[in-house]
Amino acid sequence: MDSLQLLRKDTEVEIATAAGPTAFEIDELTAGYRERRVLRGISCCIPERRVTAIMGPSGCGKSTLVKALNRTLELMPGGAVTSGHVRFRGADLHGPAVDPRAVRRSLGIIHQQPVPFPMSILENVVFGARFHAICRRAEREAYARLYLEKVGLWTEVKHQLHESASRFSGGQQQRLCLARTLANQPQAVLMDEPCSALDPYATRRIEEHIVELRDEYPVIVVTHNVGQARRISDYVLFMVDGQLIEAGPTAQVFEAPQSQLARDFISGRFG
Ligand SMILES: Nc1ncnc2c1ncn2[C@@H]1O[C@H](COP(=O)(O)OP(=O)(O)OP(=O)(O)O)[C@@H](O)[C@H]1O
Ligand SMILES: [Mg+2]
Repeated sequence: MDSLQLLRKDTEVEIATAAGPTAFEIDELTAGYRERRVLRGISCCIPERRVTAIMGPSGCGKSTLVKALNRTLELMPGGAVTSGHVRFRGADLHGPAVDPRAVRRSLGIIHQQPVPFPMSILENVVFGARFHAICRRAEREAYARLYLEKVGLWTEVKHQLHESASRFSGGQQQRLCLARTLANQPQAVLMDEPCSALDPYATRRIEEHIVELRDEYPVIVVTHNVGQARRISDYVLFMVDGQLIEAGPTAQVFEAPQSQLARDFISGRFG
């Protein structure tokens, strides 16, 4: 079967959680790097069209988890899922018929340090879309405009489309990389600490875009900023030492955390 077929929107299954239909089901997921086991039996559901924040202290495995979700973990030296399952809209992402490249395209990831490609702004935005034959050469400018508008960059860059993005500020680079990811027409957006290198003003702009994205996508945002998780997320996963300690709607996790570890983390006593 065509692996992309497995990831089409119409394969969506309605699995009810407290937060609505489920996008990702994670079942006893164990993963790491060579002999180093990092994720230790993670099981949870991540809702559709909501912002889910993954929180936890440095080194607890947040980045490893998002990379495992879109199969970029196996591109890291020694990185692998060793047991368990991840299903997206009912499709097993590690199933034998699934092309990992189709998973990476469908579940777009944006990393902490945005890296514009050494090419023009226009080419940056349409790079993946051209590669995947989503947009034709003649349509490049109109296509790029659509996504630059979505991330609020169009008016800033419309006269420099053929110039390099290398002189962009950190916030502009992060928005350009978001535009590049969205131009690939993903079915979910994963963001790993998207604001950690940004000033408060640029952070606020990215947070506004994240909240808008949930109208169209399930959005997962890794953050160790407790305030940010509270501002932008609907659902929270809280991890410590490769294990999921708590998961639930944001208000519930913040106002009535079940575990002492979550209480201490939220109040700034550890992490
Ligand atoms: N490429 C790698 N090779 C070997 N070990 C790694 C690799 N990347 C991460 N690790 C280890 O896996 C563990 C989890 O790392 P991970 O980057 O997932 O944590 P994190 O929660 O994202 O941390 P941070 O908040 O600092 O980004 C850490 O102990 C780390 O040293
Ligand atoms: Mg990380």
